[in-house]
Amino acid sequence: MPDTTPVWENLAALAQEDISISDQFADDSRLARYSVTLEGLYLDVSKHLVTDTILEALLELAASTDVLARARQMIEGQQINTSEHRAALHMALRQESPSIPGDFPESAQSERDRMKIISGAIRNGEWCGVTGMPITDVINIGIGGSDLGPKMVCQALEEFSDGPTCHFISNVDGAEIFSLIKDLDAASTLIVISSKSFTTRETLLNAKTALAWLGDALALSRPQDSPHCIGITSDIDTATQFGIPASRLLVVDESIGGRYSVWSAVGLPICIATGYENFQAMLQGGAAMDAHFLGAPPNKNMPILMAMLGIWYNNFLNAETYAVIPYCQRLDLFVDYLQQLDMESSGKSATVAGTSTDINTGPVVWGQTGTNGQHAFFQLFHQGTKLIPIDFIGTVTDGLSNEEHHRVLLANMIAQSQALMTGKASEDRHQHYEGNKPSTTLLLDQLNPRTLGMLIALYEHKVFVQGTVWGINSFDQWGVELGKRLTDQILQGSVAHDPSTNALMKKAGFDVG
Ligand code: F6P
Repeated sequence: MPDTTPVWENLAALAQEDISISDQFADDSRLARYSVTLEGLYLDVSKHLVTDTILEALLELAASTDVLARARQMIEGQQINTSEHRAALHMALRQESPSIPGDFPESAQSERDRMKIISGAIRNGEWCGVTGMPITDVINIGIGGSDLGPKMVCQALEEFSDGPTCHFISNVDGAEIFSLIKDLDAASTLIVISSKSFTTRETLLNAKTALAWLGDALALSRPQDSPHCIGITSDIDTATQFGIPASRLLVVDESIGGRYSVWSAVGLPICIATGYENFQAMLQGGAAMDAHFLGAPPNKNMPILMAMLGIWYNNFLNAETYAVIPYCQRLDLFVDYLQQLDMESSGKSATVAGTSTDINTGPVVWGQTGTNGQHAFFQLFHQGTKLIPIDFIGTVTDGLSNEEHHRVLLANMIAQSQALMTGKASEDRHQHYEGNKPSTTLLLDQLNPRTLGMLIALYEHKVFVQGTVWGINSFDQWGVELGKRLTDQILQGSVAHDPSTNALMKKAGFDVG
């Protein structure tokens, strides 16, 4: 257990000290030492509740878990997802020539080639519907990792979008899909059914509804076997039994976890909306972050620094949450994306060895874009009683904004991190700002496919480092299964439940067993 090691005990002792963030800047080399630049990405971790001694101890803790050796095992395709007996190959997906045993490198390349051809044909109008109309709208039907990644990226890369409009349907709430299809023309709509397992109830029901709409509108008896439907899956047999021909199926290797799948065929909507070259640039950005993670010294290593600062707050200063505040409306969904990435990966209480953890693992991730959040929950940041470290994310330039708007936006972000740190003393308790509140700032030169790829990979590796230190498996998600099974039982109505559940079922019109 990490909490019985001398380095952990040392950190626990260091956590008893009172630290003033502002005072740390008495050392005028602090900013240079606590900031990192990688191409168009600048990371400032100087405004944190750590002294040099604490940071050294945190880096010692990371080193004691051999985190980089484990990262190399990941990129070499070893089975680090032990509870599912799989490798975790998302990093290998973005390498030009991954050295993974077996046919993974060839099949990953051939699926990328097919993504390029298919998205190219859809974009240039060669891929037509049954009436001969080119595709104007795409509905991606998927949930979790089969939705959040491509949806977030399509929104983030709006500036680069010049293809058909991509819509995303995830919730089984029928109001979502019915209100979308009533405004679309079936003759020019493509449905992408994206599900690694091809068994996810929400996705299959939404697909059934969408296909029935297509079938009715276009007089097709098997719309799934028409140019209006593409499938993306790891389970070719189940998808072909569903009726999608292999020629219109894109395959995701089963060693790509759902929440890590945006780099795989699951990214097809990104290629359709922005063009394959932009998707490839995103992969290259991810690969640049991989190289940095594997090669940069720990004290200048973005993922390691962010991960270990997170561990400091989570395990030593008792913070329960951290907030992510992008000052870019197009990164609105980045917070939702991170919630799955971080909380599905780190929401664990079993160690890799199958014992119970006796330390805190994953924090709650939350947030929303600035400046909106400033007028909603920042009051609690400034004067509340909770410790909530914050990640601010901004872009130096914005091609979709103008100078006046963008300067105001950035000034707000910079002012918030400053105000949180410096605070302002007042005799009047209502006007008193405690200050000393920590934050990280990430500045992208520009939000483009490459910097976005770097940003996503940065958080992936941060989560990986933390999982390694906590000794948990960041790549499984057994916790979501029980609720799925009980949903089946409630739908069947065959089993008696506890009084509360029975009463809810009765009121909602279910049979009670
Ligand atoms: O229920 C959780 C989960 O398994 C996620 O991990 C995954 O991204 C999502 O469901 C969707 O799964 P699938 O792609 O198999 O439909």
